[in-house]
Amino acid sequence: MRKGLTAYGDEEFSLFLRKAFIKAMGYSDDALDRPIVGITNTYSGFNACHRTVPELIEAVKRGVMLAGGLPVEFPTITLHESFAHPTSMYLRNLMAIDTEEMIRAQPMDAAVLIGGCDKTVPALLMGAASANVPAILMVTGPMITGDHKGERLGACTDCRRYWGKFRASEIDEREINAVSSQLCPSAGTCMVMGTASTMALCSEALGMMLPGGACIPAVMAERMRNAEATGARAVGLAKEGLTPGKIMTPEAVENALAMLLAIGGSTNAIVHLTAIAGRLGIEVDLDAFDRMGRKVPVLVDLKPTGSYYMEDLYKAGGAAAILRELEPRLNLDARTITGRTLGEEIAAAPPPFPQQVVRARKTPVFKEGGIAVLRGNLAPGGAIIKQSAMDPRLARHEGRAVVFESLEDLANRIDDPKLDVARDDVLVLKSAGPKGAPGMPEAGYIPIPKKLAQAGVKDMVRISDARMSGTAFGSIVLHVTPESAAGGPLALVKTGDRIRLDVPARKLELKVSAAELAKRKKAWRAPRPRAEDARGYRKLFLESVTQADRGCDFDFCAAEITTRVPRTKK
Ligand code: FES
Repeated sequence: MRKGLTAYGDEEFSLFLRKAFIKAMGYSDDALDRPIVGITNTYSGFNACHRTVPELIEAVKRGVMLAGGLPVEFPTITLHESFAHPTSMYLRNLMAIDTEEMIRAQPMDAAVLIGGCDKTVPALLMGAASANVPAILMVTGPMITGDHKGERLGACTDCRRYWGKFRASEIDEREINAVSSQLCPSAGTCMVMGTASTMALCSEALGMMLPGGACIPAVMAERMRNAEATGARAVGLAKEGLTPGKIMTPEAVENALAMLLAIGGSTNAIVHLTAIAGRLGIEVDLDAFDRMGRKVPVLVDLKPTGSYYMEDLYKAGGAAAILRELEPRLNLDARTITGRTLGEEIAAAPPPFPQQVVRARKTPVFKEGGIAVLRGNLAPGGAIIKQSAMDPRLARHEGRAVVFESLEDLANRIDDPKLDVARDDVLVLKSAGPKGAPGMPEAGYIPIPKKLAQAGVKDMVRISDARMSGTAFGSIVLHVTPESAAGGPLALVKTGDRIRLDVPARKLELKVSAAELAKRKKAWRAPRPRAEDARGYRKLFLESVTQADRGCDFDFCAAEITTRVPRTKK
């Protein structure tokens, strides 16, 4: 109760007043003398991924009380992917600041962070890292799958697949409506290897979650037991003073990056892990991450690139099955939230058994990590591609650029029957980066122009400074840095230019002479500010958001960099 007293100029009076007010909640002196565990309430009627948060809070509270603590829930912002305009990424940093300040402002000895949907887990971890109060993460857990005509369906890989069929006139309106009732058949997070699943698994590898916590489906009783155990552990953290900075070390961040590569995880996770690590002075070096990716194969056979769903991964042993295969690449001495090391937790996990979802190192799903980092005159600050999710025939490709200047331009012209576009062209989208859109929306999954989709084209090279949903797939170059709105070379591309993508060589080149590019750069003008850019959160965001290679965090929130990871040799 003495922590972070409200400033009245008399500390004893501040404490007296605080106790008087909290007693109105009905607490006894005995209860108030216990370790206080704050629980983030990220429930919202707009966030179906967090539908079970109220019952999870009850289970966490039970665990806290069984361990002798006092649980106190408090609200934070919540974010759902489809209910966050203009895009949830625009609001992630707001949630991180909210979480940090609420943890710091209120007298809790430890915090239980309940997240799940894509941006909530990174925001909670960013906030907790900066607040540096003992904290433990738990996720709401993935949805179970739905069915349509005997086929399993999952959000939102199958959302995109069926929408593609509808655009190509392969199915009618009645069928797409029937499918929409089956894509999200339960509470929980998207059950493919999208950003939510990726961040859950990376958080477990990071050590911030109880072992086994990443994959338990949202609707299972075990999820409630996991919540109870999380609450009980939070009391231990409060007594031990085990702060996030002691868990999220450079070694732990490397473990999370290895997990990201091995699961063929969402491209968004590299931005989020960079932002989380940045809060603790740890820089993620994209080139070193790429070198790591040459040695860590994709082991998990989940959609969008594979066949299975999160409930299958749960039944196959969850994160432990992956970590066991990854052991030679992990820092096994990294301490986890249990107080034990990652190596000890892997050794204590149930023994392996024959299953199809997690492959052995010698028989991977894809021989390298899921994400490759590209460089070249089009992306001097780097760009990424999910190489495990692309048509391998496009891995080395040169084509004519077809440029869309903005999201609006894309929406207006992509399905125009008169659009001059062919299957070998390269679709380029500008003004969709952190400042440009703003918020770097998941617009990198540029739809195949309707006339080409109807002609059977399933994949094309697409390039932008946007992000892409972890549930999406295709030959899609993302996070081009610096972004076009900041005057990066992407801003200079014109329809008709030639672009060369070479994923094995990690190259992205605009085949235009340096002299011509210098001429275009001279003529380039920054986009005119929009009326709404001048005030409020929008103004703060535009002035402070960093580029993708720095995690799109606010420049004033990141800590001073002291370490770079992963520490792979050149
Ligand atoms: Fe919440 Fe996919 S929309 S996890």
